[in-house]
Formats: sequence, structure tokens, C-alpha cells
Amino acid sequence: MHSDWLAWAHRSGCNVSFDQIPAHVWPRTAKRRADGTVEIAGVSLVDLAREYGTPLMVMDKQDFVSRCRDMAQAFGGGHNVHYASKAFLTSEIARWVAAEGLHLDVASAGELAVALRADFPPADITAHGNNKSLEFLRTCVVRGVGTVVLDSFQELERLNTVAAGAGVVQEVLVRVKPGVEAHTHEFIATSHEDQKFGFSLASGRAYEAAVAAHEAPNLKLKGLHCHVGSQVFDAEGFKLAAERILELYKQLVDVVGADDLTVLDLGGGYGIAYTEDEEPLDVDAVAHDLITAVDKTAAELGIEAPQVMVEPGRAIAGPSTVTIYEVGTVKDVHIDADTTRRYLAVDGGMSDNIRPALYDAAYDVRVVDGTVSGALIATRIVGSHCESGDILLSDAQLPDDITAGRLVGFAATGAYCYAMSSRYNMALRPAVVVVEGGRASLMLRRETMDDYFALEV
Ligand SMILES: Cc1ncc(COP(=O)(O)O)c(C=O)c1O
Repeated sequence: MHSDWLAWAHRSGCNVSFDQIPAHVWPRTAKRRADGTVEIAGVSLVDLAREYGTPLMVMDKQDFVSRCRDMAQAFGGGHNVHYASKAFLTSEIARWVAAEGLHLDVASAGELAVALRADFPPADITAHGNNKSLEFLRTCVVRGVGTVVLDSFQELERLNTVAAGAGVVQEVLVRVKPGVEAHTHEFIATSHEDQKFGFSLASGRAYEAAVAAHEAPNLKLKGLHCHVGSQVFDAEGFKLAAERILELYKQLVDVVGADDLTVLDLGGGYGIAYTEDEEPLDVDAVAHDLITAVDKTAAELGIEAPQVMVEPGRAIAGPSTVTIYEVGTVKDVHIDADTTRRYLAVDGGMSDNIRPALYDAAYDVRVVDGTVSGALIATRIVGSHCESGDILLSDAQLPDDITAGRLVGFAATGAYCYAMSSRYNMALRPAVVVVEGGRASLMLRRETMDDYFALEV
């Protein structure tokens, strides 16, 4: 767009940039058509909303798959990248991940069940969890899950017993908290001391756990794991954690022997852009820096550099998906004599996207059924739930001509939205549609009341 015209338009209070789709936030194939509507992978979002109803999650398969490839390339192959399925998992997604040659990280018996149902190779699965049930541990052992990440001494004993009962030796990693403060929201920072995951490095518990795992007859210690947090932009945290854990490695090589200890799993956490002014973490650059730092530190410590593995979830699934809602009501709320805020209520809310309520997450929102041209006014987008905290977009400047009946799209809802969805107020989980090459296919149908009634005994 011509910059003089842009400047004129802004001076005139005309909203020109709102119609532009920020390519670094939206799915890679998203674009606004000449008629003002938005398409993804060549499929009109208006048509999809008409066919499947709203709220609707539209997932760009190409976007998801291309990010799997980017990660695999950055980290030296798909076997070094475990898609963190907690971000979003269906059987179909598990099959995409397998087809790309990536491995899978599951954090519950349920995620494992989906992976196994999709015939994901069990040997390529890593099982997480701070309180894995006996049943979950048994399934891991019996079905041949490649790696279990140990998170407590009780679990270490339980897993050893289960493996002994099945007559197998289970490969394990020990989850370490290296005491690195990730610069992210408290609820998604997982490497500092005062939280529930892993064994503390500073107190020596991580060392004790690793030695105990090595000595357990039915466990085989392969290496160490850590995860500093999620939605991290300061890559120094990953590096610092790796350097600290390598010192523990050095200690362990002396006890355990270098041959067995081969893996350094640095978890996920790669930050993505949720809003126009954010920049996603440059995965290539971070991978290069991390691997270089690991090699250098290992050389300084006189040990062989371990194989670096990562577990990205958000950076693979997040940008692939847009949630479409229909605006139902518009209210102008007079906060004081000088301030008015417009409340746009949409037909979903905290049940399909808890992230804004849980940790103040912000989103990029665009009207997708045509353009808008109104002046920007203070606006809040809220859901339909019986909760005043049911806010999807807290504090935005949006055009004043977004009226009831318009369709709005929230970008980057592919991770931790459907996966964290609830049935609050008996809301029905939205449908998820996959778009690819001009075609749409339903991956998850919309929930119905009969799905709920099927649970009532
Ligand atoms: C152990 C572990 N690995 C990987 C991830 C994925 O993180 P992200 O989706 O931020 O990449 C998480 C997220 O909580 C995690 O706890």
C-alpha cells in the first residue's frame, strides 16, 4: 500500500491496517480476497462458517506440516523433535506427525491412548507427567513406549516394579529443574525451584535420581530432560539450562559411564507471535546457538556432546489455526464520564479458549467476512459464559462498525485452546475443520448435547 495514502488514511481516522492479515501471526496460507473476505488454503472462512457453524476452528494443514519440517531441519532431523501433543492432539494430527518423521511427547494416559489409536510408533513416544498413574506407567511399559521421563522418586520405584513385572528394561530420562527463570507467565514457567515438575539440580536431588535410575535393574538411564517454560522469547534461558545440566552430565558420566548417557532433551517453549507487534522466535538461529553451546560446553567439560532433543508444541500447532466466532451482541459501556468501552460478545468464549482468562493472553483479531472501515474505539471481546472474566480480547482498539452478525477470526489458536477446552455452562466444544489445497474436511465434529447425555448414568 502506498505510504502517503496510508498516512492520509490514518490522519482521517480511517482504519486501513485492520484489514491487513499479519502473515507472521496468521496461518501461512491465509489471505484476504479482493471481495474483502478471508480465505485459508484457498477455502473461504465465510463458507466454512456457513457450512459448519460457529465457533469453528479452522486448521491449515500445510502450516502445521511445514512447521514440523522447519523444526526437523533446525534440530538435525525429525527424530530429535518430539511434537508436544498437549498443545493439540487428534488421531489425524498424530498421523501427520508420524508421516513427517517427528517423534511424539505425551503427558497423560489419554494422549498416549490417542497416539496408540493412530498407530504412532510406540518406540518414538516419550511419556511425561508429574504424577503418572500406575495404569499409565503399565501401558507405557507393555506397549513399548520408547522413553519415560521420570519426575519423582516414587515414580522411579513404581516404574521399575512395573517393568520388572513385564520382564522388560524401560529406557528413561530424568527431568531436571535447572533453576532458570523463564521470562514468561508464572503458570507456564517450569524450571525454577518452587514448582511441581522435576528434580532440583541445586539440591542434588537430580543427581540422586539419575544415579537411582541407573542402579534400578529394570530401568535404563539414557539422559536428562528439562523444560524451562512455554512461550519463551529469551533464548538465553534454554542455553543456560543446557549448560547447567551438562555439568550434572559430567558428574554422571563418571558414575554411570559415557556409553549409556546420550540424550539431552531440552523440552519445548519456543515463543510464537500472537499479536502483530510480536515476533516469533527464530527457531533456526536458536537451534544453531543451542547446539553450538552444548558442543562447546561438553568439550570444555571433557565429555562427549549428547544428542540434543526438543519438544515443541505451540510453535508447531499454534499458528496453524484460526477460531471463527459470530458477534452476537454489541454493548457500549460507560465506564466514567469520559470513557466508553464497547463490548462485543461472541458465540464462544473461555470454554474454547481459556488462555486470556488464565494468563492474560492477547490475540490478533480480524473481521473475516469482509472489510470494515470505522474509526478505532476501545473494545473488549467477550464470550457467552456466565462469568465476567470470560474475556477473549481484553483491551483493543477495533473499528466501530463491527456489528452483530459479523464474523471475527482469532489467529494462532492451534495450541492450548481446544486442548484446554471445557464444557462450562454446558458449552459444546467447537468443530475443527482442516483446510488444504482448496478443500476442507472435518477433523472433529462439533460436540452435541447427546455426547454429554451419553455420560449421564
Ligand atoms: C515437558 C514439556 N515439554 C514440552 C512442552 C511444550 O511446550 P511448548 O508448547 O511451549 O513448546 C511442555 C509444555 O508445557 C512441557 O511441559
